[in-house]
Amino acid sequence: MGAIAQHRAKRDAGAGMTAAAANPLRDPVDYRLPRVAGPCGMVLFGVTGDLATKKVMPAIFDLANRGLLPPTFSLVGFARRDWLDEDFTQIVHDAVREHSRTPFREEIWQQLAEGIRFVAGDLADPAAYQDLKAAIAELDVSRGTLGNHAFYLAIPPGLFPTVLKHLKESGLAESHPGTWRRVVIEKPFGHDLVSATELNSIVGEVFPAESVFRIDHYLGKETVQNILTVRFANVMYEPLWNSNYVDNVQITMAEDIGISGRAGYYDGIGAARDVIQNHLLQLLALTAMEEPLSFSSEDVRLEKERVLSAITLPTQIDLHTARGQYASGWQGGIPVRGFLEEDGIPPTSMTDTFAAIRLNVDNRRWAGVPFYLRTGKRLGRRVTEVAIVFKRAQHLPFAQTANEELSNNAFVFRIQPDESISVKFGSKVPNTSSIEVRDVIMDFQYRDSFLDSSPEAYERLILDVLLGDPPLFPRPREVELAWQILDPILNRWAEQGRPEQYVSGGWGPDSANEMIARDARQWRRP
Ligand code: BG6
Repeated sequence: MGAIAQHRAKRDAGAGMTAAAANPLRDPVDYRLPRVAGPCGMVLFGVTGDLATKKVMPAIFDLANRGLLPPTFSLVGFARRDWLDEDFTQIVHDAVREHSRTPFREEIWQQLAEGIRFVAGDLADPAAYQDLKAAIAELDVSRGTLGNHAFYLAIPPGLFPTVLKHLKESGLAESHPGTWRRVVIEKPFGHDLVSATELNSIVGEVFPAESVFRIDHYLGKETVQNILTVRFANVMYEPLWNSNYVDNVQITMAEDIGISGRAGYYDGIGAARDVIQNHLLQLLALTAMEEPLSFSSEDVRLEKERVLSAITLPTQIDLHTARGQYASGWQGGIPVRGFLEEDGIPPTSMTDTFAAIRLNVDNRRWAGVPFYLRTGKRLGRRVTEVAIVFKRAQHLPFAQTANEELSNNAFVFRIQPDESISVKFGSKVPNTSSIEVRDVIMDFQYRDSFLDSSPEAYERLILDVLLGDPPLFPRPREVELAWQILDPILNRWAEQGRPEQYVSGGWGPDSANEMIARDARQWRRP
């Protein structure tokens, strides 16, 4: 047996898996076949929140509509509301009608609605969990969910410990042989490294590691999964994917919306905790990691953890980070309020709605290549992209005037909207008497090449939870490493006072431009 095969056999034995199950490359299973969840149900905590109504409920319907849920699927809502099953069913119905991706079909809805139940109770009341237990037991018989249930915590993180404690004490977290119980936890996973570690240990006392699914919905996006596919399915890119050719990497997540009525969640959290700690650092990890031995969850997550461990901060945080807060301005032709005028935001709030940071990845592949991450609300347009910006050619054999309009080559994953991959390079301008070079863009658009529209991230992730398939869910070490990177920046920012104001509809505070200009570079204008 060769060294790699030996490593795989050892790893697979350690993980309690068969070699075939753990090695998709050699596994005879045809992964193009649809994966359909077996008999099971879901208990939803936080039934009236935005997440539940805009994402989770519609995704469940979309999965049912695509034939990927068992026909006997059950959905139990649990909350302190004076509701009957019919009331909750109506809530789910409205959410589905308004937000589902796939067309509404009455027969699918009827089938789903038959498995909907509501349990009224306080999250801190042990008796309510006994009612929940009884409801689940009834469904196991009447719907045939066979004891398999996922608990989806779409609730404020401050309530996680209470719910987890009661799931444990009531025996709900416990699975019996041949059945499963899983928990789905939504971000934010903690507020800093200490609280994240604490939360991980609380969760670990209630559910075994393989039953915990931490959702980072960016990992459920097709375009994000495609980063690894493009890098490792092709021969063209990897030779250039290193400090010999790459000048810098820019990861941008720009939103045109403000905080959209989420003051209670957002104030005190801010842009860096809200999306850099999770979505943007995950994008960085996928862009910078080494090739995994296989696409098993163990191998992919190991490589992500390795690259996150290699990240270091510039010594002078003030010079290489920027933060801002949106002021009033214009968006899409209409006047919009500044962050401090939003309902529920105190006028003294120090919360950042824009954050930009520079990170280094200290390993041989990336030595000397800065990774710039930026995100903000109320920016010029909604766009998320990962741009690999290449160095200039060592020598340009043209007259200087010929290449004045040539900038750095760039390879760009456009995560959303207009999902695409583009390459920017220099080309001869036709019809000129002498050579003149100008930037051109070669563009692959998903919609031109594939007939199916991409599923919502939540469809993919919820299905993975029900199938017990973990690669797209960050494990504790990844979460803690991400906080370890961010903590010193957040601590420094906390000493700085009020963030700089920036005009809504623009591209963030001046300090963001100054920060990158110090490195003699500039932000891409997506
Ligand atoms: C969430 C953040 O995780 O991602 C929100 O909490 C943000 O503040 C949202 O608006 C953006 O998600 P998407 O999929 O629209 O880019």
